Amino acid sequence: MLDMSPSLPRWRDLLPLLRPRPIELSPVRRALARSHSIADLRRESLKRVPRAVFDYVDGGADEEISLRRNRNAFTRVEFTPSVLRGGQLDTTTTILGKPAELPLVLAPTGFTRMMHHAGEPAVARAAADAGLPYTLSTMGTTAPDALAAEVPGADLWFQLYVWRDRGLSKDLVDLVRQAGYRVLMLTVDTPVLGNRRRDLVHGLALPPRLGLRAFLDGAMHPSWWWKLLTTEPLRFAALTGDGSVGPVELGNTLFDPTISWDDVDWLRSQWSGPVVLKGIQSLADARRAADAGVEAIALSNHGGRQLDQAPAPLELLPAVADAVGDRLEVYVDSGVRTGADLAAAVALGARASLVGRAYLYGLMTGGGPGVVKAIDILRGELTRTLRLLGVNRVADLTSEHARLRGSA
Ligand SMILES: Cc1cc2nc3c(=O)[nH]c(=O)nc-3n(C[C@H](O)[C@H](O)[C@H](O)COP(=O)(O)O)c2cc1C
Repeated sequence: MLDMSPSLPRWRDLLPLLRPRPIELSPVRRALARSHSIADLRRESLKRVPRAVFDYVDGGADEEISLRRNRNAFTRVEFTPSVLRGGQLDTTTTILGKPAELPLVLAPTGFTRMMHHAGEPAVARAAADAGLPYTLSTMGTTAPDALAAEVPGADLWFQLYVWRDRGLSKDLVDLVRQAGYRVLMLTVDTPVLGNRRRDLVHGLALPPRLGLRAFLDGAMHPSWWWKLLTTEPLRFAALTGDGSVGPVELGNTLFDPTISWDDVDWLRSQWSGPVVLKGIQSLADARRAADAGVEAIALSNHGGRQLDQAPAPLELLPAVADAVGDRLEVYVDSGVRTGADLAAAVALGARASLVGRAYLYGLMTGGGPGVVKAIDILRGELTRTLRLLGVNRVADLTSEHARLRGSA
């Protein structure tokens, strides 16, 4: 008979159960160690950069309806798991003819060295080490040729805005071709800049201005300011001149509201490699893109930063993939935050997803290691989702494995 009567605690039994973790002195490593999701990285990043910087990354346009809608679309995903289907797991795919370790492309983001002084080179290196493509923005803070030299062997894509001055766009295309970039991504949802109210409130500009509020906020983030003031000055490295303009001025002087499908034809004539149109937001435009002969489209509302009340790309995906998926690759961009989202996007017809904020939250929290952490989180979640779904290979994901609740 077992003796279940309570007794006094025996310390010698307790000791083996106590396994204190080694004390971590670096606040950055501590922040990364307690981040188990992209949402955790977002929360940590808020503590590490001035509010104006966080809001530039985190915010959307106008009422931020598109921003919320993008995430809500992913909450509609319902998976259909199969059981007892174990086997060798394979998360790889092919993106525009090149193998990638995950169905994932790191999206272009401007001002990247403002988020963390390590900037674009740290992001590109993390992507290359993980076997993923990285897209440098026209509004990047590292020059295209310098980045290519710093991260040899990376699968580099370049994101182009067509400027009012077409000569400037042509010069950029020539520069990135010579620097060895593989893919050109034309962003087509930005004839003018979206109305980012959080940036207007902060008076955001590049280089960051030291208004009284920013100065006081900076006092809370001395290491961010120290790095900013002791590393190479921030500038739009792909632009000529000193590159020091604010986003609102940029919108009014550089972006071209007359951009049209003729510009896609023009670009085709300038670039013999793959072309991606980023910012397609309707079935009709997806068909038009296929007719224009581009190799891929990214369904995107720019992460809710351009037209507010736009469709959520994930909700457009099934119909678009059905209509043009045999003529070009379709990517989903805007709102991807988890590895389950990556699986859902492929199941619903995407070749890959693009992420912007997911890696920027990592970058703001911990520089290069923060981006590595963000990718590790997504990889781990994707792997677990595949296992739980009973699907061994990303390539085997189909519409049998996921649907959007509430659709026919
Ligand atoms: C801070 C920031 C800067 C961005 N800069 C650019 C840019 O220069 N060019 C571009 O085409 N898209 C840009 N985007 C949009 C991203 O490429 C991508 O479409 C968006 O981040 C996807 O949504 P997600 O952040 O929810 O993943 C930017 C996004 C963010 C968050």
